[in-house]
Amino acid sequence: MPMNPPLADWRGQRVWIVGASSGIGRELALQLDAAGALVAVSARRAAVLDSLPLSDAALRLPLDACAEGDWGRALATLRSAWGGVDVWVHCAADYQPTRAWQLDAPASVAALRVNLESVYLGLAAIVPALLAQGSGRLVLVASPAGYFGMPEALNYGPHKAAIINLAEILHYDLRDKGIAVHLVCPGFVATRLTERNDFAMPALQTPQAAARAIVRGLARGEFEIHFPRRFTLWLKCLRLLPFALRRRLLGLTGR
Ligand SMILES: NC(=O)c1ccc[n+]([C@@H]2O[C@H](COP(=O)([O-])OP(=O)(O)OC[C@H]3O[C@@H](n4cnc5c(N)ncnc54)[C@H](OP(=O)(O)O)[C@@H]3O)[C@@H](O)[C@H]2O)c1
Repeated sequence: MPMNPPLADWRGQRVWIVGASSGIGRELALQLDAAGALVAVSARRAAVLDSLPLSDAALRLPLDACAEGDWGRALATLRSAWGGVDVWVHCAADYQPTRAWQLDAPASVAALRVNLESVYLGLAAIVPALLAQGSGRLVLVASPAGYFGMPEALNYGPHKAAIINLAEILHYDLRDKGIAVHLVCPGFVATRLTERNDFAMPALQTPQAAARAIVRGLARGEFEIHFPRRFTLWLKCLRLLPFALRRRLLGLTGR
């Protein structure tokens, strides 16, 4: 039994993707637009949103996901244009590889704000709207970096762990109110974020493949949409191990 109602027919679905100017969010917007959804794209860079090759019906709603007022304004525009929203995707995030000896308070706070606080700001706007509709779907993009502590992810992994936890809570609360909740945990995807990694990324995927995997997971009604499985299932097994053993198996040491 799928944990959420499957969504395979995108025709007429009103989809709002936040973090759609590049990477996974951009590709998802293009694929859903091509599949017949009404797509609204948000991110900070308005000119990049304008340049996305979407159909004429698409809406471009520039916003800073860390600015509370921007959410209300964007949602009001969407509701007056479409009357509601069926699917909300939160994809906005930032990542800078950081080790403990590189800690810098302003950088940590900025990362926390976009990776986690912005999710709460968005939810505070969209959840009441979906509850009033009595239907809808939340798609939160986390990461396997939230499964357990990984080096370099000091200003990223803890935020993604919180989103994994948050998605489960939202699912408990909203499932019986007609609102589906999906958690997306992609392995490595070649985007602006991962350009900053200085190591060989196993099972690296294209943003196009990542967007296709998300669409597939939604069509199956999966709660956690994780991919590629040959990588994420291995990480899930590692997560079950005691920290001391996992650390030894991964050969993790401070460099
Ligand atoms: N790439 C990977 O390997 C990977 C793996 C696991 C999970 N993820 C997750 O996948 C999601 C998408 O990441 P990506 O790899 O596609 O990165 P990306 O290409 O850098 O895309 C990030 C998006 O977030 C937007 N954004 C950042 N700060 C924002 C803000 N304050 N307000 C509004 N939008 C903001 C960016 O647009 P603007 O700069 O125009 O605002 C951009 O559209 C993220 O949640 C990331 O953590 C990625």
